[in-house]
Amino acid sequence: MPEQNIFQPDPKLSRSSYVSSLQQYNELYKESIEHPEKFWGNIAKQFHWETPADPKNFLSYNFDISKGPISIKWMEGASTNICYNLLDRNIKNGHGDKIAFYWEGNHPEDFTRFTYRKLLEEVCRFANVLKMHGVNKGDRVAIYMPMIMETPIAMLACARIGAVHSIVFAGFSSDSLAERMKDCKAKVLITSDGAWRGEKLLHLKKICDQALDKAEELGHHVETCIVVKHINRVTAPVPDLVEDFSVDMRDDRDFWWNDEMEDVEPSCYPEWTSVEDPLFMLYTSGSTGKPKGVLHTTGGYLLYASTTFKLVFDYKPGDVYWCTADIGWITGHSYVVYGPLANAATSVMFEGTPFYPDVDRYWQIIEKYKVTQFYTAPTALRSLMKFGDQPPSKHNLETLKVLGSVGEPINPEAWLWYYKVIGKEKCSIVDTFWQTETGGHVITPLPGCTPMKPGSASFPFFGVKPSLLDEGGKEIQGEGEGYLVFSQPWPGMMRTVFNDHPRFESTYFSKFPGYYCTGDGARRDSDGYLWITGRVDDMLNVSGHLMATAEVEAVLTEHPRVSEAAVVSRPHPVKGECLYCFITPNQSETFDKKMVDELKVLVRERIGPFAQPDVIQHAPGLPKTRSGKIMRRILRKVAVNDREVGDISTLAEEQIVEILFQNRPEK
Ligand code: PRX
Repeated sequence: MPEQNIFQPDPKLSRSSYVSSLQQYNELYKESIEHPEKFWGNIAKQFHWETPADPKNFLSYNFDISKGPISIKWMEGASTNICYNLLDRNIKNGHGDKIAFYWEGNHPEDFTRFTYRKLLEEVCRFANVLKMHGVNKGDRVAIYMPMIMETPIAMLACARIGAVHSIVFAGFSSDSLAERMKDCKAKVLITSDGAWRGEKLLHLKKICDQALDKAEELGHHVETCIVVKHINRVTAPVPDLVEDFSVDMRDDRDFWWNDEMEDVEPSCYPEWTSVEDPLFMLYTSGSTGKPKGVLHTTGGYLLYASTTFKLVFDYKPGDVYWCTADIGWITGHSYVVYGPLANAATSVMFEGTPFYPDVDRYWQIIEKYKVTQFYTAPTALRSLMKFGDQPPSKHNLETLKVLGSVGEPINPEAWLWYYKVIGKEKCSIVDTFWQTETGGHVITPLPGCTPMKPGSASFPFFGVKPSLLDEGGKEIQGEGEGYLVFSQPWPGMMRTVFNDHPRFESTYFSKFPGYYCTGDGARRDSDGYLWITGRVDDMLNVSGHLMATAEVEAVLTEHPRVSEAAVVSRPHPVKGECLYCFITPNQSETFDKKMVDELKVLVRERIGPFAQPDVIQHAPGLPKTRSGKIMRRILRKVAVNDREVGDISTLAEEQIVEILFQNRPEK
């Protein structure tokens, strides 16, 4: 990439940032790779360990499946409580009256704030409620919630008593929620009556009722459902909808959050857990089979979420940080809740959408709270760019110093808009590459330190050792492109797939023994910058939501009139990628608009609204090799109407390619 496309960090920012030059980064990086025990051992000193770690046994691991089971253990033998470290410890250090969260509701007139002290009190109360309902250390608690304060309260209450939270993003369907609750054998489900997203009212409790019934059908009984009364306490954008709004409460199972919180003690002694005890699980799509319950543990995750937050956002006391991600995704876990609170940070938490009541809502919130670090997804930026520079220009965005991006590649156009229009050419942009599995950022620029190239996630974070491998598993040195893998563990990485260690090993460690395989490809340029090139498996990334083509295909073929389905990704100007589906109806069935509509509804119901296909095309047949393998490469060409399909001589029926081009719904 030519020199003029390198953007140097603002000198003013460099002067004050924790890591202020590439030289300093290189020195620290070297130490973190060569002496991880020392590097992370120093960081661990700021936290409370009820039983300290044995420095001689700070890290033990096996990344090589040919030598035995994969295992990763940091600080084995130590014990702690993450909730204690996030709340009690900060209060002891004098931050009790500091704002932990400015909560900004969907409606601009709804807002509140929580100090560290108030948060601790609410967390303790709810921890006692959970105990009253028989939740013990190690039990799983499912959470299906909007972006309201009760969500972090519920998470931290679980952590306080050693229970394992399993959050399901509240955009998932009742089927998806049921499947996840069954897989983790959730004892309790926490939800709210409903949620506003702009002017849309979501009936969360209704979805939960269906999910609880479905879990029952699948053979799992969830004992208790605790429901936050949210809709009636907030200003409604559409009051008429509230009038009709009611929820069913089942006597033996459902309890109102407020009623339960009434007479409980505002203190709760923390459960000291082993640092390798599970903290939470979070489901992520797998390229084959059902979603995987990615399991994170306590001690290493605390070190990693905390350190990445501090250094990647260059968070300083007095700053106001805002991450727009939903807590239902890993970004919300690590960078709305755990990372910021571990640093006694002040954050904004936002319930609504960037478009309500108007398309300048994000910029208005930045101005209102004097936000210094802002973290969002490229999809959101692209959808806001469409409205031009005027909405942000109405607001004072001068407080900003770091702008983060996450979840998908950021295209240079969106990067430049972010840099120029939002950041006024003085903010560092941190394009953070990471995954549910990695627990925190693994490849990212550092503010005030890394010269930026639009679209490159640049260099590894401390303790992370990336390599690029060719198909044969050989490391590519210098410039080149290959599979992105990591050859040693960092503290925040996942430890296993819940209840399925063999799946953990086969998914991440079997393709290249000795390495954790991300499933992404990457390129290294002549300056050593890493550029993520996208998934190398059959996964799609729609608006930052990762899903498997196989998952969507399985739903499409559930339709009684469908014989076969194949799904590929097609580039989309706002969502990054979208779903393009090829449908072969059963013999004697016709492909019509009714079928298309039914298939869209089916995908929404089974997976969630974010998975709805953009295009559903009739495919009288699919391009298959003689051995029956679908050649997706050809389908991807049809999806973008590119007739340069390459060699098709291995196809069983070559003529199908032309038929598919003829059948494209968009002429
Ligand atoms: O393909 C990569 C993409 O998102 C995947 C991880 O998705 P998930 O587990 O849902 O976590 C998303 C939030 C961390 C990755 O395998 N991805 C994530 N961040 C980036 C990215 N692709 C390119 N650039 C990024 N900054």
